Amino acid sequence: MREYFNSDDWLIIEEGFEPEYNRVSESAMSLGNGHMGIRGNFEEKYSGDSLSGTYYAGIYYPDKTKVGWWKNGYPEWFAKVLNGINFIGIDVKINGLELDIAKCTVIDFQRILNMKHGYLERSFVAVDKNNNKTKIISKRFLSMAESEIAAIKYTVIPLNYDGEITLNPYLDGKVVNEDSNYDEYFWEEVDKKAEDNLCYLNMRTKKLDFRVSCAMKYELSNKNDKIQPKEMTLISEEDYVANLLSVSAKTGDEITLTKYISAVTNRDYDNEDLVNKSVSAVNKAYESGFDNLFEAHKETWDSKWEENDITIVGDKKAQQGIRFNIFHLNQTYTGEDQRLNIGPKGFTGEKYGGSTYWDTEAYCIPFYLSTSPSKIAKNLLIYRYNHLEKAKENARKLGFKGALYPMVTMNGEECHNEWEITFEEIHRNGAIAYAIYNYVNYTGDKKHLADYGIEVLVEISRFWADRVNYNKAKDKYMILGVTGPNEYENNVNNNWYTNTIASWTLGYAMEALDYVKSEYSDIYDRLLNKLELKEQEVDKWKDIIDKMYYPYIEDEKVFSQQDGYMDKEQILVKELPEGNLPINQNWSWDRILRSCFIKQADVMQGIYFFNERYDMDTIKRNFDFYEPRTVHESSLSPCIYSIIASQLGYEKKAYELYLRTARLDLDNYNCDSDDGLHITSMAGTWMSVVHGFGGLKVKDNELYLSPFLPKSWQEYSFRILFRDSLLNVKVGNSVVIELISGDDVTINVFKQKYTATKNNKIEIKNN
Ligand code: BGC
Repeated sequence: MREYFNSDDWLIIEEGFEPEYNRVSESAMSLGNGHMGIRGNFEEKYSGDSLSGTYYAGIYYPDKTKVGWWKNGYPEWFAKVLNGINFIGIDVKINGLELDIAKCTVIDFQRILNMKHGYLERSFVAVDKNNNKTKIISKRFLSMAESEIAAIKYTVIPLNYDGEITLNPYLDGKVVNEDSNYDEYFWEEVDKKAEDNLCYLNMRTKKLDFRVSCAMKYELSNKNDKIQPKEMTLISEEDYVANLLSVSAKTGDEITLTKYISAVTNRDYDNEDLVNKSVSAVNKAYESGFDNLFEAHKETWDSKWEENDITIVGDKKAQQGIRFNIFHLNQTYTGEDQRLNIGPKGFTGEKYGGSTYWDTEAYCIPFYLSTSPSKIAKNLLIYRYNHLEKAKENARKLGFKGALYPMVTMNGEECHNEWEITFEEIHRNGAIAYAIYNYVNYTGDKKHLADYGIEVLVEISRFWADRVNYNKAKDKYMILGVTGPNEYENNVNNNWYTNTIASWTLGYAMEALDYVKSEYSDIYDRLLNKLELKEQEVDKWKDIIDKMYYPYIEDEKVFSQQDGYMDKEQILVKELPEGNLPINQNWSWDRILRSCFIKQADVMQGIYFFNERYDMDTIKRNFDFYEPRTVHESSLSPCIYSIIASQLGYEKKAYELYLRTARLDLDNYNCDSDDGLHITSMAGTWMSVVHGFGGLKVKDNELYLSPFLPKSWQEYSFRILFRDSLLNVKVGNSVVIELISGDDVTINVFKQKYTATKNNKIEIKNN
């Protein structure tokens, strides 16, 4: 496997510039702060291969759907996360010659992402065709403390010449998406101004009228002494503003341009206030200065790491990998805004449209539950609650009662347009119900059921009750024509996971109704009225639960992924001749569909969710049967198998699968990190450590742990927030649990009950 980056505990280091890997590095080096994000693109012009990306949370474009064969029920459009105003740009000329590292010799190139304090640094020496040697050092961050602010320090050092250097900091709205269906240009200018040391650019999307206004100011210095440019030219062109600055420099001078940027959107302010808001924000940032802004940003990162760092002793690569995942998750979603969610690529690329998938509920919620105050996970639930009416419309559009949440969405409407997924991958609805259970179980906030949960649970249950088929001959309910989590097979009958999560939802909805009835009877009455829920409807749910059909493979004593799974030729992944993997890049789709190979956890996803229902023998038989048939070609796959392998004591397997998820993007394992990082699967990586190696569970309001130490590690530790108490769990020769802050916590370790209190560590011998 190619090593892209040097190992380090806190840094991602790219040494030497290799243009063919630039896109992978750009993805890895992305910065974000929940409000906006940028790929690791260069500030100066680069004419080589690059995916430019500046993204603003919640700003999207309804790109007209393009499909080969239109099917009734397809959505008219697909929400695309938009590449928006480029605010990092600084064009550089050395004695009139444009600096472009695709066109000069580059020495000592380094691009370093600092994960501890959330900034990107770059340095190199460029030797141009006039043999002028120039050293460039840049540092930038997107403030975590003030999310509308970014700042860049860009230093130019002439190493062997005196000459004229021009620096052209700009705001550029003439940007495009690589991924657009009809090569449409999505933005148009509303307003702009270029004054000396104050430029702004206000752009709007051609549809939906999203607006982004960026403003910038600059500061020039030579070795820390402020200087004025020799000349300053204002540039104001269509969709573009800049301050072109020229400086006469001598060998060894250090000319630094500090660029302050603000970016505000009409998701937060009225259209008519936008320019003022961006200008006043950038003025304020300029007054604070780079160092103060950076200090506040750094402090915010310090407190994030205080809450959610994982340390690993004895394995640098593993340490770097896990921090890389936690870092990007924290950059993607900060949880204050109920209208936002977590796209599978976050702010690191255009793929998946930047939209919301079931990934959030199945993979990300557990991460945010244990690493952030509970309101953050709650906001993710409220996001879906707010989309309930759209989910009901979606179900009606397909001819069903209740609510069917979309496979892919930005605003609650379905964006996905492949029938086998849009119409059939309905298990996603179950994950949304499961997330409610997960949240309530972890936080103990049962009131949530009365305030929000019931409505969602009832409408999802109504969908399931309508979507099942009653098979009279067998006296069983069945769910026909679905796609399970394993997308390598479509239109199957009775996907075990789908049937399981559907009937579980009905049961949980009933339990939640009983709870709200007994504890909040006034709210209950109101809800019954609003939902027009009748007793007979709930009786039908009960009947479905009692008579749900679950396919089973008698010979193997395992759940059958779906009806007829054993009709397939049974081959194991390890028996495939070399060169076949990944099958999605080497086989025809038809061959994949007919094969027994499984893309990602399917039966195992159910065993992970409903773990308490199954005894160890059942879990073991299913794992032993399905893992060898799974190709893990979804980034979401290895983490679930890793967790179950940990539970079964398959430590080697658990670790092997963990490594595959932890360094998926750093090592470009699936050869696709060029178009962005796998943000949602990063939460799965965290789960592999905390739920897998650590064995974290919450049952009946108590924490459970059963940790083991992977052989190649000397020690690891993780932090979890449980009901406002922050705990540090260290696993080495012994397991040491410390209460860092908050009230005492009861915690069960290896089936023994302990209480974590302040000033009193729990220390247990590791078995
Ligand atoms: C997976 C889905 C997932 C989507 C976005 C697909 O490859 O099969 O389960 O929701 O990627 O991450």
